[in-house]
Amino acid sequence: MKYGYFDDTAREYVITQPDTPLPWINYLGSEAYFGLISNTAGGYSFYKDARLRRLTRYRYNNSPLDMGGRYLYLRDNTTGKFWSPSWMPTRTQLDEYECRHGQGYTVITSKLNGIKSSTRYFVPLGESLEIWQMTLTNENASSVDLSLFSAIEFCLWDANDDATNFQRNYSIGQMEIVDEVIYHKTEYRERRDHFAYFACSENLAGFDTIREDFLGQYRGWNEPQVVVSGESTNTEAHGWQPIGSHHVKVSLKAGESKQVIFILGYQENPKDDKFDPPGSQVINKQRVKAALENYLKAENADKAFNELRDYWTMLLGKMQVTTPDEDTNRMVNIWNAYQCMVTFNMSRSASYFESGIGRGMGFRDSNQDLLGFVHMIPERARERILDLSATQLKNGGAFHQYQPLTKRGNNDVGSGFNDDPAWLVLGVSAYIKESGDWSILDELVQYENEPGSEKPLYDHLQRSIQYTLDRLGPNQLPLIGRADWNDCLNLNCFSDTPGQSFQTTTNKDGTVAESVFIAGLFVLACKEMEGLAKYCGDNDEVEKVTQAAAEMEKIVWKAGWDGDWFRRAYDDYGHVLGSKENTEGQIFIEPQGICIMAGLGVENGNAVKALDSVAEHLATPHGIVLQQPAFSQYYLHLGEISSYPPGYKENAGIFCHTNPWIMIAEAIVGRGDKAFDYYKRINPSVREEISELHKCEPYVYAQMIAGKDAPTHGEAKNSWLSGTAAWNYAAITQSILGIQPTLDGLEISPSIPAGWDGFTAIRNYRGVTYNITVTNPKHVSKGVEKVLVNGKQIGGSLIRADAQAGSGEVNVEVVMG
Ligand code: BGC
Ligand code: NOJ
Repeated sequence: MKYGYFDDTAREYVITQPDTPLPWINYLGSEAYFGLISNTAGGYSFYKDARLRRLTRYRYNNSPLDMGGRYLYLRDNTTGKFWSPSWMPTRTQLDEYECRHGQGYTVITSKLNGIKSSTRYFVPLGESLEIWQMTLTNENASSVDLSLFSAIEFCLWDANDDATNFQRNYSIGQMEIVDEVIYHKTEYRERRDHFAYFACSENLAGFDTIREDFLGQYRGWNEPQVVVSGESTNTEAHGWQPIGSHHVKVSLKAGESKQVIFILGYQENPKDDKFDPPGSQVINKQRVKAALENYLKAENADKAFNELRDYWTMLLGKMQVTTPDEDTNRMVNIWNAYQCMVTFNMSRSASYFESGIGRGMGFRDSNQDLLGFVHMIPERARERILDLSATQLKNGGAFHQYQPLTKRGNNDVGSGFNDDPAWLVLGVSAYIKESGDWSILDELVQYENEPGSEKPLYDHLQRSIQYTLDRLGPNQLPLIGRADWNDCLNLNCFSDTPGQSFQTTTNKDGTVAESVFIAGLFVLACKEMEGLAKYCGDNDEVEKVTQAAAEMEKIVWKAGWDGDWFRRAYDDYGHVLGSKENTEGQIFIEPQGICIMAGLGVENGNAVKALDSVAEHLATPHGIVLQQPAFSQYYLHLGEISSYPPGYKENAGIFCHTNPWIMIAEAIVGRGDKAFDYYKRINPSVREEISELHKCEPYVYAQMIAGKDAPTHGEAKNSWLSGTAAWNYAAITQSILGIQPTLDGLEISPSIPAGWDGFTAIRNYRGVTYNITVTNPKHVSKGVEKVLVNGKQIGGSLIRADAQAGSGEVNVEVVMG
């Protein structure tokens, strides 16, 4: 069953029923000010960091699930009837409802008793504020007398304290209401130099800033006393729970429309210019004047919105494809690219599954997110790489996460995830392949954010490689440390205490447990490093990494190959995992993907063998599960992976992040049909038809779909923030469609379903637009017979970037066969 439809021309998903199986959300904001918004206007906003600079409050795991947000209430003052034009929180049955999620904006339109309202929520480019632009229309034959109320609940900035430290919080709330603008300034009197403001374009009939006055004692957001009575209390909050609510009276003649605009914004002041007059405790509001004057005018808000749309047209225009498959086209051209941008911005911090409190920017996560994002805004990828590497440890290891606000490594989470550094090599290499910007390797970057410790980024990459070599175990495979890509494979943890964090609790020193996954990743990283080192003329490094990769490959065949597939690991007792010898956890997806991506087994046939094993043991109609058989009980020596009930998350769930690795591997061995088949199984657009089972948004990937051992097989969880976005984007664009940036230029080597006649693509690469037409007259799934660039055949399938530089547009014809 569907709850909406894709409007591909408008690049929107249109939800036509408010009671979706879960809140179906969207993101506002591009760079600093962000918001999460659900299809019923739930959600919250923050500046840069969802934990440390939270503007509005959100209560997780609520009932109903999605309560609290950017609420508006309409009240017919003749009858006293009131409703939410976004359905929540009053849940009044609406005559019409539609929510359109687009890139960085959401429009919720509804109608009740002839009153139509349409509210567009967005963050203008480059601004630290959000606009709610509401158009009200009276479609009745007679005039109406309406009241419109806005309502948000302020968060006292630090979302964690806000949700826990009530003995303090209930006394610190402070507001100012000046010129009908509501200012939230809790802690501004002391160390905070920032405040929030909430303004409306209309003259107010009243306002509220005290939650219990607005709602009424013991009442909820579904029937606020003020809305029921039609009268605001005009009172100022001191402590307790500050909110912002405006009351606007709107009289509309038959057929008349009116626009009302609200702005919620964030502003910082210099420390020595905080107060006006100086020495007082009054906020200096000079710096918000311009924004208020500008965006409370409809024409300026429209202009800002159009700029946002144009910006996205430009970004998405960097890669557009037309294949015979509609689900592919809309995911590549719109939604998957968009999700890549959101995951890049948020890492794993703030979604409806990630609280924004727990996790900052992940080291391995951000490096992978680059893959899906780098072609859209390489400069931001560059900045992220430099931020990440500045948190790198001197021994080449990495802080597992850093806080986006401070850009410092997060000590609570620490380091010791032994795969982390290798991802930096992959991230940097992907950046250079896209941009051709070799200068990044010379950038001086600190270690551990320590002034004076600066070294060229190249040195960071060398230390990343060395980190693995310094940590080899009894089989000469890389030691796993706290965990590798699979955060839940905690082979050194041995946690027997409830509530202990598997990822951060004291670990054994760990000189035995090894990871075949890291071995594969290491080989891949070495091959990337080899390419970089060659360019830099660093022969020593070239020699070192080629040798190290070759040796590691040998080790994998010796200790990491099980006969029909790659093994997963060796535990702290030195026992193998991911082998026929095991009764549970015999075969894992990750090493099959990463080892084949690193080239292992491609020549000797073992890659195909491993992929056949994946098909036989792990593939389901809903995607490929992480391992089989699932762990039926908790194993002290395996850790969190076995803590999950069978079929969920890392314990044999369909962990979507890993599925594209298999797609890529299938493409590498030339099985385009198989690669594409896997691509379709987890494609959210395909799964739209089964939304009642899938539950999550049909326009973005979820981290996990319950596996075949789960009673809810096929049900998705944890949508939006997952490496799934970037890897699927890479799999479809670079491996299946085969348009692959390399250090030298664009390589075009598709691996598509044999049934396809071909496809076309427009790809902007290093400033040149490539109009690519691929034809497949012989209906093969791999193999390029010839490539013509502007009508002239080139040797091979690599279009050298230097040959095309400055060309503007280039026509490329690729004939498969
Ligand atoms: C999840 C993992 C995640 C980890 C992060 C675990 O509970 O299952 O997917 O990577 O937490 O700390
Ligand atoms: C989610 C984490 O963000 C990611 O870093 C990790 O690789 C996967 N879970 C698997 O555990």
